[in-house]
Amino acid sequence: MEDEESNDSNIWELYGLKGNPFSINPIQVKSEKNDMPIEGFERFERIDRALDIITKRLKSESGTRTVVYGKTGVGKTSFVNYALHCVENKCVYAIVNVKHGWTTKEFINNTLSEIFNSLEKVLDKKTIKKRLQTYFKLLGYSVLNYASKLNLDDVKKIIGNNEKNSIPIDSTFLEDLFKSIAKQLYTEHGKKLIVVYDDLGNLNSEEGEKQIETIEDIFKSLRNGVFIESGAHFIFICDTKTNFILRGKQTIRDVLSKPSIFLREMNKDEIIDVIEHRIKVMRKEPEKSLKPLYENGVLELLYAIYRGNIRDTLDRLNSVFVSYASGKPITKTEVIENLKEETEGKLQELDISHKPKKEKEIINYLARSKKEKVKNGNIASKLKITNTEVKRYIEDLGDIIYQSETAKDIYWTLDPEIRWLIKNHYLTI
Ligand SMILES: Nc1ncnc2c1ncn2[C@@H]1O[C@H](COP(=O)(O)OP(=O)(O)OP(=O)(O)O)[C@@H](O)[C@H]1O
Ligand SMILES: [Mg+2]
Repeated sequence: MEDEESNDSNIWELYGLKGNPFSINPIQVKSEKNDMPIEGFERFERIDRALDIITKRLKSESGTRTVVYGKTGVGKTSFVNYALHCVENKCVYAIVNVKHGWTTKEFINNTLSEIFNSLEKVLDKKTIKKRLQTYFKLLGYSVLNYASKLNLDDVKKIIGNNEKNSIPIDSTFLEDLFKSIAKQLYTEHGKKLIVVYDDLGNLNSEEGEKQIETIEDIFKSLRNGVFIESGAHFIFICDTKTNFILRGKQTIRDVLSKPSIFLREMNKDEIIDVIEHRIKVMRKEPEKSLKPLYENGVLELLYAIYRGNIRDTLDRLNSVFVSYASGKPITKTEVIENLKEETEGKLQELDISHKPKKEKEIINYLARSKKEKVKNGNIASKLKITNTEVKRYIEDLGDIIYQSETAKDIYWTLDPEIRWLIKNHYLTI
């Protein structure tokens, strides 16, 4: 593992870089040593407009509730982190990474424990302990006995996931607690409380209905006292489907600040901008000019394959460099070779050569169709099979074909890499 890491860092040194400019992790407000620093976040015009909306909200006196949504890997988390960076000295933020299948209670407990983690950074331990005691006293809760003996870890345990010790949390308790934390932070430290939920779509369980129920229940429990009256700012990051659910329920929609922020895939110029910016930020010696990392046309080729999905674009670049980097610019041929090799491996794992003929026909049909999203019914009539058969065949093809996210009817999209390779005759199935 260590060897691998040092090899990796040598690759970037060959080009005069101090680290990997193509890492696919979201940019953090506070980066670790080899991560892309916050300055690596590129602000192009469209992002600037969205930033303007969200930072104005985060600086406002009264509380706000902002939804940031978009497809997977378009840059939602990095965008929100950058917004937090912009208002950092005026706020205390807590980031709650929502996990699959959480119940309302888990959602609330984790919110509280993240808030206390963040308070720890702002207030010293003694103050926070006292403050906690005050909260509990203020609220007239009998947990005071606990609180006087607590150290921070215990506090986290009590308000965190530990079912056994957890305080019975009813809605008045929560509302009072939230309001007092937010108020004291503001009056005594001049800081607003920001709570970020990343990614609300993870409330999804196997059954989609369950997700809707949980989201509704969370908003029902928290909407007035916590979301609205506490004066704190809330950011909900989610995929387009979850945003659709949020907007479909009036009681939820009413709570949300308008407009929501939609991040769409980047266009070609934006992708080029972002990648070149990331490389510049990673330069070892900023005053020296860099060795070129790729030949002309490579970014355009990646755009043709990934249609502006920045995560997928970075991921491919990373993979090409790990395989071919020699200090010379990466060529288009190398990108295609690397893509082909990986895709063939994936298809072999899927045992594609032994799949029914109809399945292969579906793949080829999707690859060659003008539109990326194709209606289930269209595939059925073209291949002279039933709607149900189409679904069954596609299910058998694992994750190389996905259901698209916003449609009322069922639409299918072929994995963009396979689509591009077949379309351009680098692959036959
Ligand atoms: N404006 C930008 N400037 C520089 N890098 C960016 C920008 N936007 C996104 N990225 C990079 O793109 C990648 C994907 O971004 P991020 O993880 O924020 O997307 P996401 O929408 O939150 O994804 P997911 O849906 O999986 O949660 C990351 O490597 C991130 O650093
Ligand atoms: Mg994210």
